[in-house]
Amino acid sequence: MAAARYKDEGAFVDEALCDGEAYPFGAAGTLDQRVRAYLHINCSQCHRPGGGTPVNLDLRYQTLMSATNTCNVAAVDDLGVSGAKRVVPGDPGGSVLYLRMSQRGAKQMPPIATNIADAAGAALLTSWIAAMDASCQ
Ligand code: HEC
Repeated sequence: MAAARYKDEGAFVDEALCDGEAYPFGAAGTLDQRVRAYLHINCSQCHRPGGGTPVNLDLRYQTLMSATNTCNVAAVDDLGVSGAKRVVPGDPGGSVLYLRMSQRGAKQMPPIATNIADAAGAALLTSWIAAMDASCQ
């Protein structure tokens, strides 16, 4: 993987994703590509095979959506939200992927090195989940 560098926006940026592929808050790429780039940059260093977490999420950019273990997959921790899953298509508020990254506290994601939720990232995730069809496409 190409080296990551730290941008002014406070997010790690993988050079490979910037060069010719989607930047989360740029104009290039589809919404899906920009969200997947966001998840890769901010989450996949832990959420990948061998990443050391007790959950089996794989949020790398190159992973097919069907292999991310998110779409309609039950959450280990539903955060007390009835019916919540990792991603519920069309329902950001029922999707722990969104809930975890949009709030700070004991269950926040990323779990370290941040005490302010990324509002722009949360808005991106909201749009993505709200626009999904039943198969998360
Ligand atoms: C430094 C490592 C690390 C990073 C970075 C990280 N996570 Fe996590 N994540 C964990 C660990 C460890 C757990 C299991 C403990 C827990 O549930 O809080 C977890 C659990 C989760 C869960 C719960 C899954 C379930 O089934 O209940 C979700 C959803 C999640 N992370 C999403 C994210 C998102 C989205 C990002 C990026 C914005 C992210 N994580 C970044 C380490 C990380």
